[in-house]
Amino acid sequence: MIKESDRVVVRGLRDVEAAETRISYVDFNGFLYYLGYNIDDLVGRVTYAEVAYLLVHKRLPTQRELDNFRSELVSDMKLPDPIVDSIKHTPKHCHPMHILRTEVSRLAEYDPEGNDFSEAANLRRAARLIAQVPVIVATIHRSRLNKTVPEPKSEFGFSENYLYMFKGAIPDESETNVLHRYMSLHADHGFNASTFAARVTASTNSDMYSAVTSAIGTLKGPLHGGASEKVMEMLDDINLEEEVEEYVNGLLDDQKKIMGFGHRVYRAQDPRTKHLRGIVEDLSHRDRTLDLYNKCIKIEEIVYGRRKIYPNVDFYAAVAMDALGVPKEFFTPFFASSRISGWVAHVIEQYEDAVLLRPASKYVGEFNRTFVSIENR
Ligand code: COA
Repeated sequence: MIKESDRVVVRGLRDVEAAETRISYVDFNGFLYYLGYNIDDLVGRVTYAEVAYLLVHKRLPTQRELDNFRSELVSDMKLPDPIVDSIKHTPKHCHPMHILRTEVSRLAEYDPEGNDFSEAANLRRAARLIAQVPVIVATIHRSRLNKTVPEPKSEFGFSENYLYMFKGAIPDESETNVLHRYMSLHADHGFNASTFAARVTASTNSDMYSAVTSAIGTLKGPLHGGASEKVMEMLDDINLEEEVEEYVNGLLDDQKKIMGFGHRVYRAQDPRTKHLRGIVEDLSHRDRTLDLYNKCIKIEEIVYGRRKIYPNVDFYAAVAMDALGVPKEFFTPFFASSRISGWVAHVIEQYEDAVLLRPASKYVGEFNRTFVSIENR
């Protein structure tokens, strides 16, 4: 135990290592590893289901294991009826992340394995959550359009089914490939704020739904996963490419943050950016995507020129989502639909670590104040 007088406050927990993990490593030099694999070696060569398996089971699957896992996920892509009804009755103006947070919490009430918190039950629960979070997102979207969600197709892969259920139309191969890459890139990222929130909740031996609910509430904030929606608001706010310079310089002159830029850990390019920029380049035969891409390139140049900071995962992800036809209020829900695999992997790892995450705080308030009863205040 450290003496109180020797303790230091580390504001924002910057650089504090709160626990050990084997799941992912965020190297400030601009590299990201999942279970020791550089993401550059994975993205474009694996499906998202393969990445999810890797995170949860801590090794790459064989073809047979992957086939079984994909079938498990696809057969778990259904929601209890009361959850579908609840989504249908939420006010239309409500942000999808509010609804997602509530409905994930509610899933606990319908968990077929109840209070079985064994390792095997938790692995099955993890797979159900990986499958059901996207279905909640699809159901929110479809019910706003007064449309139903199509049944998943057993012959489709997991990400393919997600797009199909979200959009109600069979995606083409290029769209499915984009989603595999997007979801793989968003699947895990060390002790980011939402994952840490999930681990804190799990560290009290609380259940997986509670941990994921904490994570969703944390991801929603614009300094974290909420940033991509703000990126699109900014891009929509800039009418023409020629206006980028004045707009961005204005924000920087006013000491405002440019959404989708900066990172707590990386001091070099975020390794995910080049992949997401590549996705957007692949899709830039669409006029709107090309226009957004050109604006992004200009913003990147100006922000780097003035502040030496790079775009993070949320910057080009916004344009990639837009190109897939996802409305901007669903950008963060798509992030959650991918990060769920990292969250559940970390929750399982936290259960194994079996230690309460509970930091100290430096009290800077007063002592020995004189109490005055309410009638005399
Ligand atoms: N726009 C403009 N300036 C920024 C910036 C941004 N997006 N991000 C960081 N900076 C500036 C900071 O103001 C700070 O300037 P200072 O030294 O003059 O005070 C400097 O860059 C270093 O910032 P840093 O300490 O590295 O930031 P942080 O670790 O406290 O915060 C974020 C990290 C992600 C919260 C921050 O970069 C941010 O708010 N970005 C915008 C939101 C976003 O895109 N979030 C998604 C993250 S994946």
